[in-house]
Amino acid sequence: MLSSNVQTPCFVLDLARLRANLETADRVRREAGCRVLLATKAFALPAVFPFMRDYLDGTTASGEHEARLGAETFGKEVHVYSPAYTDAEVERLTQLADHIYFNSAEQVSRYASIVRDAGLSAGVRVNPGYSNATLGGALYDPCAPGSRFGEVAGRLDEVDWESIDIFHVHALCESLHEGSIGLIEHVAEHFAPWLEKVSAVNFGGGHFLNKAGYDVDALIGAIRAFRDRFDLKVILEPGSGLVVNAGELHASVLALHWNEQDLAILDASASTHMPDVLEVPYRPEIVGAGKADEKLHTYTLGGKTCMTGDVIGAYSFDEPLQPGDRVIFTDQMHYSFVKANTFNGTPLANLAVRYENGSIETLSDFGYAEFRDRLGPAS
Ligand SMILES: Cc1ncc(COP(=O)(O)O)c(C=O)c1O
Repeated sequence: MLSSNVQTPCFVLDLARLRANLETADRVRREAGCRVLLATKAFALPAVFPFMRDYLDGTTASGEHEARLGAETFGKEVHVYSPAYTDAEVERLTQLADHIYFNSAEQVSRYASIVRDAGLSAGVRVNPGYSNATLGGALYDPCAPGSRFGEVAGRLDEVDWESIDIFHVHALCESLHEGSIGLIEHVAEHFAPWLEKVSAVNFGGGHFLNKAGYDVDALIGAIRAFRDRFDLKVILEPGSGLVVNAGELHASVLALHWNEQDLAILDASASTHMPDVLEVPYRPEIVGAGKADEKLHTYTLGGKTCMTGDVIGAYSFDEPLQPGDRVIFTDQMHYSFVKANTFNGTPLANLAVRYENGSIETLSDFGYAEFRDRLGPAS
């Protein structure tokens, strides 16, 4: 049973679980003969990057700032993809990244020569027209109708393939092996003429490698079969799949309330600390709690922001909640603290690591400064 005396709210990364996840990634690298990158958009905790480095080939970024973070704090390879860049960003990225990916034939024609002249490799993102995202429907499906991500199949002749090294597709979201394999086979079946023009293919993120039910051997088999056929380097860039179930958000009950139902107000909030609870939406699990009415005492839990919809969900407990009680949300390492905000002046949740001997170190002391500094200077 998880417990802790960390000051709440606090995200606690579990290093033992992270190691187990990374060992899976490393096995994929070795047995499939591919590279695996960390997508820092999902998880970026520089304090544990030295620990992660041995298991991975580098990081992939969503833009200049993540690329800089990867270069400064992770090292190894830095890949970056953005649907659009400014001229100045591309110039700066040539100093930070090793591989820069473009979203369209137009972006390739504008920037790929700059990248190549700097001695780096250029990639193009292709929209493979393959939908498998298991989360959030069209909201998280990069191949949804009208998606702005990637050059569409019918326009690939317009890409200057002479300047392209990497064929990139990202089409999955929290997908099990059927999705990963389906994408790999789809690309092999529909894009062979273009694969012959490049030296590497990047199958993006969304491979939920460490989720229960993901058949890692099946993924390895599919990558090997692909490599046997095309003799290309293969890259994967998961985020969530590397940190699934690797940590929690610890919160405290601040107050109890009643309005036709029992309510509990926490120091953690959906709106500020777990924005995907509202955006996806989904219901995070709580250690020791059940669904509404499953156990004796049911409460609707919410944050203390002014947003009426800042509600995490209804949960039941064996004992009545009291102010000061701990509530621990599981599986909170991906797309949580990286998306957190300070709406209402809410403090960011602190960041902590649970080491493999069970001790916990708190890494941050967030407070007023993070709220104030993002609002600009006073006159
Ligand atoms: C281009 C790209 N690569 C990788 C990822 C990481 O995806 P995930 O965290 O679902 O593995 C994303 C997520 O949006 C992405 O857009």
